[in-house]
Amino acid sequence: KKTDNQILTIFGASGDLTERKLIPAVFNLFKRGFLPENYAILGVSRTDFSDEEYRKKVVFDNPHLKASKDNPGELENFAKMVFYQSIDTKAVVDYQLLANRLKTLCNDCHTDQNYIFYLSTPPSLYSVISKNLGEAQLNTEEKGWKRLIVEKPFGYTLESAKELNNQLLESFKEDQIYRIDHYLGKETVQNTLVARFGNTIFEPLWNRIYIEKVEITAAESVGVEKRGGYYDGSGALRDMIQNHLLQLVSLVTMEPPARMDAESIHNEKLKLFRSLRPLTQDDIRDNVIRGQYLNSTIGDKQYPGYREESGVDPESRTETFAALKFYIDNWRWADVPFFVRTGKRLPTRVSEVVIHFKPNHHHLFSQRRIANSQNVLVFRIQPNEGILLKFGLKVPGNGFKVETVNMDFQYDGLTDAYVPEAYERLLLDCMQGDATLYARGDSVIAAWEFVDPILKAWKDDPDLPVYGYPSGTWGPEQANALIENGHGWRNPCAN
Ligand code: BG6
Repeated sequence: KKTDNQILTIFGASGDLTERKLIPAVFNLFKRGFLPENYAILGVSRTDFSDEEYRKKVVFDNPHLKASKDNPGELENFAKMVFYQSIDTKAVVDYQLLANRLKTLCNDCHTDQNYIFYLSTPPSLYSVISKNLGEAQLNTEEKGWKRLIVEKPFGYTLESAKELNNQLLESFKEDQIYRIDHYLGKETVQNTLVARFGNTIFEPLWNRIYIEKVEITAAESVGVEKRGGYYDGSGALRDMIQNHLLQLVSLVTMEPPARMDAESIHNEKLKLFRSLRPLTQDDIRDNVIRGQYLNSTIGDKQYPGYREESGVDPESRTETFAALKFYIDNWRWADVPFFVRTGKRLPTRVSEVVIHFKPNHHHLFSQRRIANSQNVLVFRIQPNEGILLKFGLKVPGNGFKVETVNMDFQYDGLTDAYVPEAYERLLLDCMQGDATLYARGDSVIAAWEFVDPILKAWKDDPDLPVYGYPSGTWGPEQANALIENGHGWRNPCAN
């Protein structure tokens, strides 16, 4: 695909995401030769930096940039593309400064007026920045395209997400807005589409006739780290489920798109979100479990409880774990239960999608309806990206004893191909005008419609419990009870 000459403006240029993810992503694109001939990055925030000072901060002193050993000049060459402009993002007059600076850069770097504006600021600034860009006519596409990348969280509730969407749409058209969800940039997340629609063997079974249940786990071993202040106003449902995990659900369950393009895929995802069965108050009480990690000792190390973390209210009821059971009311998935869980301070960092096929309806062999005797397909999103299929085979020797074996594809070691980091891939897509792996406004709203009643119930009903769980466990026991028949969740650590 063609990548036009362009300028990337990053709002929130002195923030953590810029240093940890955005600049390294562009640097990797640079190293791999994916940047266009003429390219510039303009960091924007309130702090005063000269270009030189900013380069030092985000390039030379940035521990997340790794120059190739055989190319010591790489950092210097990359730094030449990095510039800085200090503005007060709330002050509309300052956008004239920005517009002038961009024009000068266009002339100096011989780029066209193709601009990406990346909003990596606190969410409260998204709408004012987009409005001010509009006032300064930095949204008009007469002399080059303009694109706006909006970081998560996209909204805090259904209402605020709708409001934000409307505010952005006052200055930018839907096809100029790229709502980023970095899970969609992960290799195996995209592979769910290829596995399903690039083969003949899975899709015929991909429905309520053959599938018993679907589980999705996104576990982290870390706690909230230094993000207590942000996290306490968010919680696992907003932080992971409303966006990353529902996006994942939609890719695993949507109908085949008409074409492999943004519009067709977004249409299917929207249809899917609209088929999520709304959760009733009873569902929320019985099928949604939330928890908080407790002060715990693991080995000889002591870990603080969530309420002791800095920036967290000592009486906080914000969940660091959430699990839910729900249904998709459509032709393909009627009555198949879906289970999603995510949490911090769980035993390990792992994300996976587990498709459990129904058991044999007739047992010729010694198979019983016991855990592990059914066919299971696992998409391992991280770490050790790969796909695992479990099926029964004969134990060698006399008789017909059946044992489950694994057919296990792992990317690592099997391919030399470079697997780009999610931000790297998504940025390149936006640079090339491809929104396939970004979220469209209507489906973000539809995903909010599904989770909003849970947030409301948690807020309004003090009797809905927040369970404590020891760090290093799979969350509150009540979450296990969500999966019937005593089978519980698949243990992602066991193959
Ligand atoms: C972010 C959340 O969106 O995703 C974090 O805000 C979380 O709380 C992170 O840790 C997980 O992403 P990944 O790529 O490490 O699975």
